[in-house]
Amino acid sequence: MDTKIRVSTQARGAVVRLKDKVAVITGAGSGIGRTAAETFAREGARIVVADRNPSSAAATVEAIKKNGGSAISVEVDVSKSADVQKMIHVGVEGFGQIDILYNHAGINRPARATDLSEEDWDLVLATNLKSVFLGCKYVLPHMMSRGRGAIVNTGGTFGFYGRPDYPAYCAAKGAVHNLTKQIALDYAPHGIRVNAVCPGFIDTPMNSTVPPEARAAIIKTQPLGRPGRAEEVVAAALFLASDEASFVTGTTLLVDGGQLSGRHGA
Ligand SMILES: NC(=O)c1ccc[n+]([C@@H]2O[C@H](COP(=O)([O-])OP(=O)(O)OC[C@H]3O[C@@H](n4cnc5c(N)ncnc54)[C@H](O)[C@@H]3O)[C@@H](O)[C@H]2O)c1
Repeated sequence: MDTKIRVSTQARGAVVRLKDKVAVITGAGSGIGRTAAETFAREGARIVVADRNPSSAAATVEAIKKNGGSAISVEVDVSKSADVQKMIHVGVEGFGQIDILYNHAGINRPARATDLSEEDWDLVLATNLKSVFLGCKYVLPHMMSRGRGAIVNTGGTFGFYGRPDYPAYCAAKGAVHNLTKQIALDYAPHGIRVNAVCPGFIDTPMNSTVPPEARAAIIKTQPLGRPGRAEEVVAAALFLASDEASFVTGTTLLVDGGQLSGRHGA
């Protein structure tokens, strides 16, 4: 494993954490994923913007290029093996390497177990959990061939407790946290780090339809007393993706306004 922390400096003197890196980010067409793509690009990385929505992915690429960065988009359904393989191929062919995979795309389908269709159960598990397995499965051989790499997965506080109405999402996110530890163990000897970020309630399009009373109740569970911002989640992901976290693997970093430190849930 490369144990040297390499931090580079821009002409203006600002620290650039991802110079010469290539990052593949799923779900980068919206919300936290788009903020991650723009932030990682500002930090010097070339970005593969992966999303199932091609027009929102293209908008993220445009924003990055406007800012002087380098990015390409790929239309991908992260629950589909062939799409994920294509995504990794696009990164390697397009930029010659992949240093960072940020498995971020996710969805939820709130409904109690008795009301949740089997199709929605499968969809939530495939989009939030199988996607992480597939991303790792197909990027790891490339990372192993280079003897380095960082994978960041997106968990969620619902993966630490039973949140009413979210059976599939709770199951998927809990599994993402444990899968992160498991894959971290198997690939540490190859110089590859695998970590997760666990956001609390963050203001993004995903939460735009949460009714005001439910929103207020959720915010009450976050001791800092407000929703988080996408850039606050991305700051944690950036740390884990960068060489600054060179001795960090298998961890889940909470960015939850203190939610899991106290009494949580609805
Ligand atoms: N916003 C929050 O409060 C919060 C809290 C905890 C965890 N998260 C996690 O963060 C991630 C995204 O959240 P966000 O708030 O940025 O959401 P968002 O809805 O703004 O963005 C999700 C993006 O993922 C893409 N996507 C969805 N399914 C996909 C698929 N099958 N293949 C490829 N792309 C797909 C969407 O097109 C969209 O661009 C999810 O994993 C979510 O579980 C969010």
